[in-house]
Amino acid sequence: MTTEQTPRARTETDVVLEARAVTKHFPVRRTGRDLIARRHRTVHAVDDVSLELRRGTVTALVGESGSGKSTVARLLAQLYPLTAGEIHLGGTAVKAGRGRSFRTYVKQVQLIFQDPFASLNPVHTVRYHLTRALRIHGRAGRGEAELEKNLAALLERVQLTPPHQYLDKFPHELSGGQRQRVAIARALGADPQVLLADEPVSMLDVSIRLGVLNLLRDLKERLRLAILYITHDIASARYFADTTLVMYAGRIVEGGDSETVTQRPAHPYTQLLIASAPDPDRVADEAAQEETGSGEPPSLIDPPAGCRFHPRCPKAMERCRTELPPRFDLADGQWAACWLYEGTAEGATADGTATAADVSADGTASAPTDTAGGAASRSATAKGAAK
Ligand SMILES: Nc1ncnc2c1ncn2[C@@H]1O[C@H](COP(=O)(O)OP(=O)(O)O)[C@@H](O)[C@H]1O
Ligand SMILES: [Mg+2]
Repeated sequence: MTTEQTPRARTETDVVLEARAVTKHFPVRRTGRDLIARRHRTVHAVDDVSLELRRGTVTALVGESGSGKSTVARLLAQLYPLTAGEIHLGGTAVKAGRGRSFRTYVKQVQLIFQDPFASLNPVHTVRYHLTRALRIHGRAGRGEAELEKNLAALLERVQLTPPHQYLDKFPHELSGGQRQRVAIARALGADPQVLLADEPVSMLDVSIRLGVLNLLRDLKERLRLAILYITHDIASARYFADTTLVMYAGRIVEGGDSETVTQRPAHPYTQLLIASAPDPDRVADEAAQEETGSGEPPSLIDPPAGCRFHPRCPKAMERCRTELPPRFDLADGQWAACWLYEGTAEGATADGTATAADVSADGTASAPTDTAGGAASRSATAKGAAK
C-alpha cells in the first residue's frame, strides 16, 4: 500500500469535488387534506448550493440542526439523486447511476458518519471491517502477509497503535473515539481523495474531540485529502477548517476563509451563531444575544420568501421579505448573501450580476466589523446566484 505520500507539486488550490447549484427537495407524504387540495408538498432541504472542496483543504459547513447539512453530504456522496444541479469530480460531471461508475466514485469520495457505533457492525471485528474495505476497493494485497501489513498500516494511519491490540476487537470493546478512528480507517481503505465527515465528533466526549479533529487534520496534510467537515459548532470550524461556509434553512448564506468568517462575520445569521457559541476568549455580548437569539428555524416545507432568515433577522429590510439576496463579494474572498452588502449603484445590477464596473476588483472593499450601519458605503459586488 502506498501510504507514504511523495511530496507532490503544490496543488492546494486543486478543486477535487464541486457542487454546482445543487438542489434537493423531498416529497412530503400527502395527507387527506393535501389530496383534497390536490397539493404536492415538498421539503426544500437544499436549494442552489454551490461549493468546492480542494485538495489538502478542510471546508467546514456550519449550521443549525435541520439546515440541510447532512443532505448536502449525502448528495455529494451520491446517495440521493439531485433535484437539480450538478456534481463534478476531478472536473468531470458525475452521472447518477449504481453501476461501475458509482463504485469508482465511492472509491474516491468517502462518507464518515456522526455515530461510529451505528456505522460499524457490532457482530464483526475491526479486522473484518477493514479487510472488507480493502477487498472491495482492490487494495487488500496478495496473500496473508500483505493483507496483515496493509491492515496494520491503516490502523497506524489513524493512530491506533500497536495495531495488533485493535485488530481483533469488536466495536463495543472500543471507546467512542477509537470507534470513530476505525470508521476513518475503513474510509481510508478506499484510498479516497475526499472525506465527507458529517459531524464526526459531535457524539464523542468533549475531551477526545480534539484528538479526532487533529487526526483528520493530519490526514489532510499527509494524504492531501479534501475534507468536508460538517458541524453545528462554528467555534470548531474556526479551529479546524481552512474555509467556512454557513448554511441556513437549505441555503449557504456566507463563505470565506475560516478566520475571516468567524472573526468578522458578515451575515446576520453568522453573527447570531457566533454570539451564541461558547467562546472562552470572548465576554458574551448579552445585548446582542437578546437581540438576535430569538426565533426558530423556519419550516422547509414552506420556506419564507425572499431571504429565508428575514423573520429572525434584526436587520431585516423591506426587500428582504420578497427578494432573495444574491452573493455579494466582500474583501479577502469573503462573501455573504445579504442585502446589507448590496454594492454601490455601479457595482451591482438588479438581477445580481456584476457589471463592468466591478468596484471590488481593486481590493479596497473591506469586510465590516459591524453591519448595523453604513453598509451602503461599503463596496461590494453582486455575483451570480440571484433567482
Ligand atoms: N429522506 C428525507 N425525506 C424527507 N425529508 C428529509 C429527508 N432527509 C432530510 N429531510 C429534511 O430535510 C431537512 C434537512 O435535513 P438534514 O440535511 O438532515 O439537516 P442537518 O444535517 O443540517 O440537521 C430537514 O427538514 C429534514 O427533516
Ligand atoms: Mg445532520
